[in-house]
Amino acid sequence: MIETLQLANFRNIQAGRVSPAAGLNLIYGANGSGKTSVLEAIWFLSVGRSFRSHLTQRVIQHQQPHFTLFSQLSSGDRIGIQRERSGDHHQLRVNGEPAKRLAELAALLPLQLISPESFSLLLDGPQARREFIDWGAFHSDPQFMLVWSRFRRLLKQRNQLLRQQAPARQISIWDQQLVQYGQWLTDARKRWVNSLNEALEGIINQFLPDVPIRVSFSQGWDSKTELQQVYSAGLQRDLQLGYTVSGPHKADLRLRVDNLPAQDGLSRGQQKLLVCALKIAQGLVLSQQQQRQCVFLVDDLASELDQQRRTLLLEQLQQTGSQVFVTAIEPEQLAMIPWDKRFHVEQGRITEQQDK
Ligand SMILES: Nc1ncnc2c1ncn2[C@@H]1O[C@H](COP(=O)(O)OP(=O)(O)O)[C@@H](O)[C@H]1O
Ligand SMILES: [Mg+2]
Repeated sequence: MIETLQLANFRNIQAGRVSPAAGLNLIYGANGSGKTSVLEAIWFLSVGRSFRSHLTQRVIQHQQPHFTLFSQLSSGDRIGIQRERSGDHHQLRVNGEPAKRLAELAALLPLQLISPESFSLLLDGPQARREFIDWGAFHSDPQFMLVWSRFRRLLKQRNQLLRQQAPARQISIWDQQLVQYGQWLTDARKRWVNSLNEALEGIINQFLPDVPIRVSFSQGWDSKTELQQVYSAGLQRDLQLGYTVSGPHKADLRLRVDNLPAQDGLSRGQQKLLVCALKIAQGLVLSQQQQRQCVFLVDDLASELDQQRRTLLLEQLQQTGSQVFVTAIEPEQLAMIPWDKRFHVEQGRITEQQDK
């Protein structure tokens, strides 16, 4: 949870300091005032990139050499990130010391984002859903990141050998390690999806009662075959194609309604609720298993959900006991929500509103 957030030269926010409440925080202001930028800054602190631009330079304030973000967390940890316009590395800090890896920041500040972009989770390819599973597995097991990156490196190496048409014998030597890490990853993912399913049930009952949604884990290869077998039996085909066809790198989360893919069986509004339910379930599992809360960022709530669904979402979020940041243009649209704190943003200046 964020106790204080300091921003400097981030988008149109030249300097800002926010001390949010532990519960529901509203960030409101006109179009272009800087609301999304505040959420983007929080996201950047944990993830090390933006959720709306691939170009990190874009978030640095025009005419400025760098941006700086800093946060005091309720765990007592302090995290910071700075990015120069020139050069392509972040400077990371954890508790006053330089940090090497972004994962150190991410582990301290678990986030879930609900934004117009995140509703494509059901429609996009499997990568977004795989990342969604891996988010949970990462936060539930400190080993996950290490195994995951070793697996990735080995897979890259295998693909390189396939492209070079290396002898089969040479490739299968590496496959043993790939199987070991891949199976470990798959077991961790499986465990997480099981827990997610349990948590999801209660939330779905609130969000989409009477809609028979089934969430299952697709591990990336035929579940009746051993991973070792997948690599060895597929080797000739992989050599022809020049890449590895099946395996844990193809894992996915399958969402079905009445045996139809969820995107076909649900209305647009229902799809959005399902995505919200999935994200809330992530937060719930984390708090059940780790006694840690994740922070929810909800961007442009009013433009995505109607009044009834907005209230439902915020009620559910409040029940998780998490810290929540919600942006909206018109605070009147959300007047019935019991905000713990409200912040007004105007041309990049953030001010806490005292009146209720
Ligand atoms: N690098 C930047 N430097 C200065 N201003 C920027 C930069 N990038 C975007 N802006 C401006 O910041 C403003 C805030 O955008 P945004 O956070 O999306 O507002 P909101 O979510 O309140 O509509 C926009 O007017 C945009 O033009
Ligand atoms: Mg916005």
